[in-house]
Amino acid sequence: MPESVTITDNRSGESVEVPIVNGGIDGNAIKDLMPGIWVLDPGFSITASAESAITELDGANGVLRYRGYPIEQLAEHSTFLEVSYLLLNGQLPDKAEYDQWVHNVTHHTFIHENMRKRFQDSFHYDAHPMGMLVSSIAALSTFYPEAKDILDPDNRRIQINRLISKAPTLAAMAYRFSIGMPFVYPDNNMTYAENFLSMMWRVAEPTYEADPVLSKALDVLLILHADHEQNCSTTAMRVVGSSHADPFSSAAGATAALYGPRHGGANEAVIHMLNDIGSYENIPAFIESVKAGEGRLMGFGHRVYKAYDPRARIVKDHADEVFKVTGRNPLLDIALKLEEIALNDDYFKSRNLYPNVDFYTGLIYQAMNFPMDMFTVLFAIGRMPGWLAHWNESIEQGSRISRPRQLYTGPAERDYLPFDQR
Ligand code: CMC
Repeated sequence: MPESVTITDNRSGESVEVPIVNGGIDGNAIKDLMPGIWVLDPGFSITASAESAITELDGANGVLRYRGYPIEQLAEHSTFLEVSYLLLNGQLPDKAEYDQWVHNVTHHTFIHENMRKRFQDSFHYDAHPMGMLVSSIAALSTFYPEAKDILDPDNRRIQINRLISKAPTLAAMAYRFSIGMPFVYPDNNMTYAENFLSMMWRVAEPTYEADPVLSKALDVLLILHADHEQNCSTTAMRVVGSSHADPFSSAAGATAALYGPRHGGANEAVIHMLNDIGSYENIPAFIESVKAGEGRLMGFGHRVYKAYDPRARIVKDHADEVFKVTGRNPLLDIALKLEEIALNDDYFKSRNLYPNVDFYTGLIYQAMNFPMDMFTVLFAIGRMPGWLAHWNESIEQGSRISRPRQLYTGPAERDYLPFDQR
């Protein structure tokens, strides 16, 4: 059987045979056959917007691999910074490369004092930390104007390093501001996760000592979030980056895309939903309301996964470890029951709706004392290397500016009329 499709333009009778390569067909063949005819695909459900060698996602079989390595193996054996290196460079580092990379990230965590004092202090007292994070990442571009030189690979590497180093600092700064606590400076003697926990929680102790189970769990959660191919925020990163904006501005765009409840905001929405359900006996009525279209079961469903999200399984496995240290999150029982009911209900089964990564992460974050409005911020820290790997890849590929077409459905030409004639 030939690995190709034939497309015929019935107006002219002309056909073109297009080979199927890497699971897709080249849209240029359609362009050449039918100039001026556009393919309508809102939400990009069937459009491959890029060729990418970073992450392989087989949604039908629940498979996720970074640069070929299964997510399960990385979550068990690797660290977030090693995974970041892998995503960015295409292969795992040797020991010397790893040490150098960890050193580079660890030693660029500080931010300019103007960012901390003048910029940060200008937010309203109850500003959402995601809003603050979006703005502070964008503001960094003004501190590093040389970042505009995006065609220089060495310059790109420096900005990538900066963004990965400073994301936790900006995130913790937003949290400390929101509760009126002084900023905690980064500590170079700590791991990436420990340092973030220290910047979040340290009060008066000379050194904050994170519980090793919690810092390990956080590191694993960051690994699980590190990339997910052409999702909404990564696409935003590639689209903004395609105009050759600097990486800080592009990452701010990606962070903004992540903010929404259909994407990175879902973990926060899950906790709101579980709180609203409140107790076991309210679950059936809640499920019925979802089936009646009155709302969604947050943390369920995915554009690509039509099987159990492998990340959700790993998160669920780690939840017990975390709860041993923090105590069990009382909402867990409601979540488990919801999952059980949904997985056996025709509405959810027929639509292939399974728990996604956000279904259980919020419960862990909450048990670790993170306030709900920080959940998406944690997702953003984790996704930063993925965004940057895609941004770097698209520049290396010499990608064209992202500029889709539209099918115009508005009025035909008409003449402007003054007020008294409308
Ligand atoms: N609860 C109830 N019904 C749902 C849900 C849900 N969570 N998700 C999809 N459906 C139904 C939807 O109503 C539609 O039914 P019908 O065919 O009868 O109209 C069908 O399933 C297909 O839904 P869709 O909206 O066309 O699917 P999509 O691919 O456009 O949306 C999604 C994917 C993730 C936005 C959606 O599943 C959703 O809103 N889920 C809840 C939010 C959530 O958990 N988001 C986190 C995603 S994972 C983290 C990340 O990678 O960002």
